[in-house]
Amino acid sequence: LEHSKVKLQIMPQNISVEVRKGSILLEGIKEAGINIAASCGGQGVCGRCMVKIVDGKIQPEVDTILTEKERSEGYCLSCLAIVDGDVTVHIPAASVLENQAVLVDTHGDDIDRKIEVGHWKINPCVKRIHMKLPEPTLEDCISDLDRLKRGMSSDSVPYEKIHCGVNILKKLGGVLRDGEWEVTVTLMETSNWFEIVDIRQGDHREHIYGLAIDVGTTSIVVFLIDLVSGKKVGVASSYNKQAECGDDVITRMVYSQKKGGLEKLQSLVIGTINELTDKLLEEHKVSVENVDAVCFAGNTTMSHLLLGMNPKSIRQDPYIPGATHFPVFRPSDIELNINPFGLGYCLPCISSYVGGDITAGVLRSEIHKKEELTLLIDIGTNGEIVLGNKDWMMAASCSAGPAFEGGGVKNGMRAMNGAIEKVKEGENGEPICSAIGNEKPCGVCGSGIIDAISFLFLQGMIDGKGKIRTEKENKRVRDVDGILEYVLVFEEETAEGTGDIVLTEADIDNIIRAKGAIYAGFSVLLEEVGLTFNEIERFLIAGGLGNYLNIESAINIGLLPDIGVEKFHYIGNSSVMGAQLSLLSKNLMEEAEEIANSLTNLELSVKPVFMDKYMQALFIPNTNMNEFPSVQKAVEERG
Ligand code: FES
Repeated sequence: LEHSKVKLQIMPQNISVEVRKGSILLEGIKEAGINIAASCGGQGVCGRCMVKIVDGKIQPEVDTILTEKERSEGYCLSCLAIVDGDVTVHIPAASVLENQAVLVDTHGDDIDRKIEVGHWKINPCVKRIHMKLPEPTLEDCISDLDRLKRGMSSDSVPYEKIHCGVNILKKLGGVLRDGEWEVTVTLMETSNWFEIVDIRQGDHREHIYGLAIDVGTTSIVVFLIDLVSGKKVGVASSYNKQAECGDDVITRMVYSQKKGGLEKLQSLVIGTINELTDKLLEEHKVSVENVDAVCFAGNTTMSHLLLGMNPKSIRQDPYIPGATHFPVFRPSDIELNINPFGLGYCLPCISSYVGGDITAGVLRSEIHKKEELTLLIDIGTNGEIVLGNKDWMMAASCSAGPAFEGGGVKNGMRAMNGAIEKVKEGENGEPICSAIGNEKPCGVCGSGIIDAISFLFLQGMIDGKGKIRTEKENKRVRDVDGILEYVLVFEEETAEGTGDIVLTEADIDNIIRAKGAIYAGFSVLLEEVGLTFNEIERFLIAGGLGNYLNIESAINIGLLPDIGVEKFHYIGNSSVMGAQLSLLSKNLMEEAEEIANSLTNLELSVKPVFMDKYMQALFIPNTNMNEFPSVQKAVEERG
């Protein structure tokens, strides 16, 4: 009814929309086209969707997140607030997803160079073959299909291994005659046969492209690759639109069980990919029909959601995925806007919580080919770890929780513009904070929090348990409602509407638990194979957090082992690079399948020793100080 509509004004974007009276404020904000963070998927438990009511009426639901002070200042959780009349809201910069910096850093990206020097051969499993076939005569009167197969068969493409589906048969005669017997066939090579996936009249060999895609829980990165030269033509990225249904894989799995939830999650991720693809194709003037293949790498849940598979059992004891190796598919099966007759491929996963992104990471960093003992980690809400070399490999995952992505931290946020990513000690012993994009800070992301805790610990401002020391007077330390906090940046220097940026004892505690889980994961994996940290020769860090992470700070707080900073290497987004390799080479695609088969998954949660190691690690840097000699030395030097 017309009279039930009210006006919702959104600041600072200055957008106004009409919404139904009684609707949820978060939904209204989304309707206005603002993508607001909703980490818990609207359950009222994460606090990310906080907005300030500047004017007008809402009915706030009781929540357990906001402080009295915040409430009295007009803040509310938009996922719980009901619009009751005309209302004007202000959305803090930290809550808008568009501001998010997406990791497209392909640090150490030597794939293009390796192609140039012929390190491996470009041999994608989708190819185009151009032919001018002889016209049929009364003497040469074999069928159209036999004529085509005869024309394309060779030593490397044996006649008897060429297959053709009914959809191609239906148009074959027309295409051959309309094109006066000059055609281009798109051929897909599998381990056993060659399948004709498309046929077109004329010569279409020149421009063939493929997409390599990292389907991350947080962000999606698409590479447009020239399948002839192997070169990367363009890159596009954005946050994964599934974020509106929750931040982490667990929340998404919960969402997928709602009515229509699975379909919505699939269409949101495909929608994000199609938007990025359209943008890339337009920018580089590539037509949809010339994109013949797509190769995805994602964690196990994301791979399931991408293909529309129900991820329910991944979450339930005994944590079984629907599949770890996925059949190849047609892009049209999942409504991707590329050549519908092309090839779709998902890199295989290892277990429910060690996914295709890790298989891609191994493929890209060649752990499976090298002598040296390597540990690879991707730190997100889950720490996914691979340890091994060319003779053996083991994988494990440990749940770190959302703290490294800013969740459960009062002023925490993802790595996006305005997030404090570095904290250094200034000459006067005061913290110097720098934010991504050189902007005024509006919160602090994982690497900034790790830096800050390392700074506070070395300064003696916090003890090994993460408790803030109050013996000495310090203008940055204060007690708010019985919780001690340290002010990293005072309001005057923060972005408008942010207030002071603080680190509370509860925040520090969350980080200690997160880093404890990851360090315990490393320790148990090593112990399982009878090795020690010092035997690790290469320590590779992949993924978003690694981009900004200061290795020394991570060692100081006990997240990474104290084995010398020179052993650590940041390898960028190895997920998309692994996808690129599989896209370009059939052999590497097969290698990815072998990697996933040969990786032994260690279920950490069933190991009693995991709990012991975890308890030991709930201390900065660790209860066992002997494992952190350089930190011990630094502490002693400071007295
Ligand atoms: S509290 Fe609103 S989305 Fe999490």
